[in-house]
Amino acid sequence: MSVFPKDFLWGAATASYQVEGGFDADGKGLSNWDLFSHLPGTTYQGTNGDVAVDHYHRFREDVALMAELGMQTYRFSISWPRLLPQGRGEVNEAGIQFYSDLIDELLKHNIKPMITLYHWDLPQALQDAFGGWESREIVDAFDEYARLCYQRFGDRVELWSTFNETIVFIGMGYFTGAHPPKLTDPKKGIQACHHVFLANARAVKSFREMKINGQIGFVNVLQPNDPISDSPEDRRACEIAEGIFTHWLYDPVLKGEYPAELLAMAQQAFGVPHFAPGDETLLKDNIVDFVGLNYYKREMVAHNDDVEGYAINTSGQKGSGRELGFKGLFKLVRNPKGVYTDWDWEVYPQGLTDAIGRIVKRYGNIPIYITENGLGAKDPIVGGEVRDQPRIDYLRDHIQAIGAAIEQGADVRGYYPWSFIDLLSWLNGYQKQYGFVYVDHDNNLARKKKQSFGWYQRVIATNGEQL
Ligand code: BG6
Repeated sequence: MSVFPKDFLWGAATASYQVEGGFDADGKGLSNWDLFSHLPGTTYQGTNGDVAVDHYHRFREDVALMAELGMQTYRFSISWPRLLPQGRGEVNEAGIQFYSDLIDELLKHNIKPMITLYHWDLPQALQDAFGGWESREIVDAFDEYARLCYQRFGDRVELWSTFNETIVFIGMGYFTGAHPPKLTDPKKGIQACHHVFLANARAVKSFREMKINGQIGFVNVLQPNDPISDSPEDRRACEIAEGIFTHWLYDPVLKGEYPAELLAMAQQAFGVPHFAPGDETLLKDNIVDFVGLNYYKREMVAHNDDVEGYAINTSGQKGSGRELGFKGLFKLVRNPKGVYTDWDWEVYPQGLTDAIGRIVKRYGNIPIYITENGLGAKDPIVGGEVRDQPRIDYLRDHIQAIGAAIEQGADVRGYYPWSFIDLLSWLNGYQKQYGFVYVDHDNNLARKKKQSFGWYQRVIATNGEQL
């Protein structure tokens, strides 16, 4: 008998900038990524999402493939500037129509939509007007945008999440400078992150005030950190890393408060986050209904007296990056016994069971969706077939890891592998493939089912029994 509950949802995920294209189609405004990806040297070989995989024009064909795969749910994000070209104010009805048609098409095929409101594509107009996430004004703007989405789609969509992976768009936007707005300014970053938490709380409040029939959650990176040795220094470094990567991001949305020790450290070092009257209550009163977990890898941690900064492997050449370090706090180091992808991500399925266990221990038995999980690889084509056996192996092992967490009592309700279709990897171009469906960039973006497509079809049909 399957360990997965009868009503477990099997799906897959994507995000607007990575699949849609149509960057200026039918009245869409520009996003921060529309500009950033065109700056020299920002992305792998200058790749961008201007056309992406043209899902904007081909969504019916894509939904037909989702239905053939047997998907019961589809996680996608809305492009804020497609609905509100200036970020606030005038609504682009053509943008509303696109998502409305997509939702109808999904429902027609019995596929439950899960909407992410923010998967990193900020209206550039708001960046220009007040510095985007740096300003408190963003909280009102995001709430208006969220309300618009609830109003137009809330009659048909039950599963919502506010943000995708704050650690990434704030961390890379404000600490390492690898994402827009390309800053290395922790003080601004910590305050911007606070605004994300406030915006989340306001959008959760509005969701409830508007009595939307559904649940609203928050999606975070799930990255277990383990010390590289048993030394007290490495264990302490690991505690700090886990605190920053996990507790800082999860506590405000699941407990309504920051982790006290880290908050004191941040305020002492940088004088932020600054709380305005009402912030604390807003966070406390608006805890999310569920948490979405994106799991790819774990990280081993060591104490750090020397390394500052890092270099990302964006080429898929093993060993071409350099490990991340914050001097005096911690550094991420390679596990000598670990198995790594070509992008130097450790493949460690057990980490998924462990990390779910840690979430349940800290936050109680909240509803969980695994909102991303997958293998980025260059898939070989053999005799015209896309042979992605390593992806099948990766997903199988991770599904088993989820099954183990369920057996231990975790309330995991759904699984969304990343990704439904090959798409643009933000910094790594189109060569880092994740999908069940291949897109032929040399042949008019034609779709082709991969080997993993038939495999996942069977997994879904047997509710995870046949792996
Ligand atoms: C997550 C994001 O960080 O990981 C996705 O939510 C992203 O948007 C995915 O594509 C995989 O990361 P990458 O860098 O391999 O594309």
